[in-house]
Amino acid sequence: MSKVLVAYASKHHATAEIAEAIAAELRTRGLDADCVEAAQAGCAGYQAVILGSAVYTGRWRKHARDFLAHNHDVLATMPLWIFSSGPTGEHAAEQLDDDSRWLEPHKVLELAEAAGMRGHMVFAGKVSDDPHGFMEKSVARNTPQAYRDARDWDAIRQWADEIADELSSTRR
Ligand SMILES: Cc1cc2nc3c(=O)[nH]c(=O)nc-3n(C[C@H](O)[C@H](O)[C@H](O)COP(=O)(O)O)c2cc1C
Repeated sequence: MSKVLVAYASKHHATAEIAEAIAAELRTRGLDADCVEAAQAGCAGYQAVILGSAVYTGRWRKHARDFLAHNHDVLATMPLWIFSSGPTGEHAAEQLDDDSRWLEPHKVLELAEAAGMRGHMVFAGKVSDDPHGFMEKSVARNTPQAYRDARDWDAIRQWADEIADELSSTRR
């Protein structure tokens, strides 16, 4: 059975919950999936990796960037997918459609492409319930309560299913 690592970097847990949902969906498809913080994760013992990060001011979190850079050579030998969690608020869905603004950070994409990445996805995110500092408080203040959690669990599960399909067809 393929063992899959879902590694993530999250500041306020929204991305952690997306990573957990991906791992849970892979398990329902018969795959052995672990969900681990990128800071604690390693590739040894895994046959495929899904790496995700929250995006803050156009950048991935440091631990996800470090994981990609430090494990680049081994990631190049196995199936790799990446995802970001970002857009929130009333216009999150439109922002997701506008690739020019909401692609994963370019350097991350370049590195992941160089490692033979099979796919990447940007998911809508969630505004923190416990914002720290001026910027986070201002984002929270300016996002109506109803639009703070823009995560689309169906889209997240569907993406995990596509990955499970691909891994299953590789195994056959
Ligand atoms: C100060 C600040 C800056 C942000 N910058 C971006 C950004 O550049 N691109 C983006 O897509 N989302 C951005 N976001 C939204 C977060 O990425 C989103 O809320 C994410 O789901 C948070 O994930 P986490 O809870 O795992 O940290 C920003 C949020 C805050 C508070």
